Amino acid sequence: RDNPLVLGIETSCDETGIGIVRGRRLLSNTIASSMDEHARYGGVVPEIAARAHLEALQPAIARALADASATEGRQITLADLDAVAVTSGPGLAGALMVGIGAAKALAVGLDRPLYAVNHLVGHIAADLLTGDAVAYPTVALLVSGGHTSLLLVRDLTSDVQMLGETVDDAAGEAFDKVARILGLTYPGGPEIDRAAVGGDPTAIRFPRGLSRASDMAEHRYDFSFSGLKTAVARWTEQREAAGEPVPIADVAASFREAVVDVLVTKALDACARYDVPRLLLGGGVIANRRLREVTVARATEAGVEVRIPPLNLCTDNGAMIAGLAAELIVAGRPASSLQFGADSTLPV
Ligand code: KG4
Ligand code: ZN
Repeated sequence: RDNPLVLGIETSCDETGIGIVRGRRLLSNTIASSMDEHARYGGVVPEIAARAHLEALQPAIARALADASATEGRQITLADLDAVAVTSGPGLAGALMVGIGAAKALAVGLDRPLYAVNHLVGHIAADLLTGDAVAYPTVALLVSGGHTSLLLVRDLTSDVQMLGETVDDAAGEAFDKVARILGLTYPGGPEIDRAAVGGDPTAIRFPRGLSRASDMAEHRYDFSFSGLKTAVARWTEQREAAGEPVPIADVAASFREAVVDVLVTKALDACARYDVPRLLLGGGVIANRRLREVTVARATEAGVEVRIPPLNLCTDNGAMIAGLAAELIVAGRPASSLQFGADSTLPV
């Protein structure tokens, strides 16, 4: 089957993503987010996310079909699908279950194969839908509110290796928590970016987690951001206790620099160590302007090509899930049995 028509469902976190692809051609990418409902809690509340998926799924599927019809210039209905795909993990179990239930119902009702796919590998597949995909092997850095992972991709359908991931908070989570410490709103990433304008990134030397020589044997490509968050909290508390004003712009810029530095350093170290001159970025934190700047500058210096898909393919979406399933189908891989469940820690 050359260019399968696949509908992908993504519900691993707070985005209800429905995407439709024909092979590597993107037909629609519908996203409904419950982010606003989580704002007053300062982070994603799993139960709220799951309930929001349940309400958003059906309208999102209808919208995705309408968008796909518009893209192709002819009516596309569920009956036209060759396969259904869904994220089975990693992610929030309750949120995943909503998408999986919907996907199984569609696959059974339509009598079509169902592909359960890995969310992180999906992020890598998003790049295939740009029409200008990175060559393999590539190193991939995925940074969002839910994950921070460094992967070595030799073949998308058969050889994806996890080099390291966060041992505590995800990078986006660190932005969200530090924003809260600084009295900024959720989501914290864009707020910190805004607050950092005019700040001095070298004003305060915040810790770079798991970067000491002694960490290198065991945690060379792992990340840790909770110590950094605590350091920011302690630094601002001390300032306030001393009755001095907190220089928000300097703190925001210095915090952001610490996150960016450790992400880029480890990613480029992996490129060098595995002799792979390519780096693919994904996840919502890629929206960070400083991260993009520093990555491109240091990668160029190191002779590494950087690929950054458009932001609507970097954040969680259903198109990447459909796109990955299409690759699996073209590679002749069998569909999933209908027995699978949600696996919040699914390995790649
Ligand atoms: O991929 P995404 O939309 O959703 C999931 O986490 O699943 O990523 C959202 C995360 C949030 O933690 C948000 O604070 C962070 O990405 N983020 C940013 C920026 N924009 C969004 N972090 C840093 N800088 C940004 N400009
Ligand atoms: Zn994600």
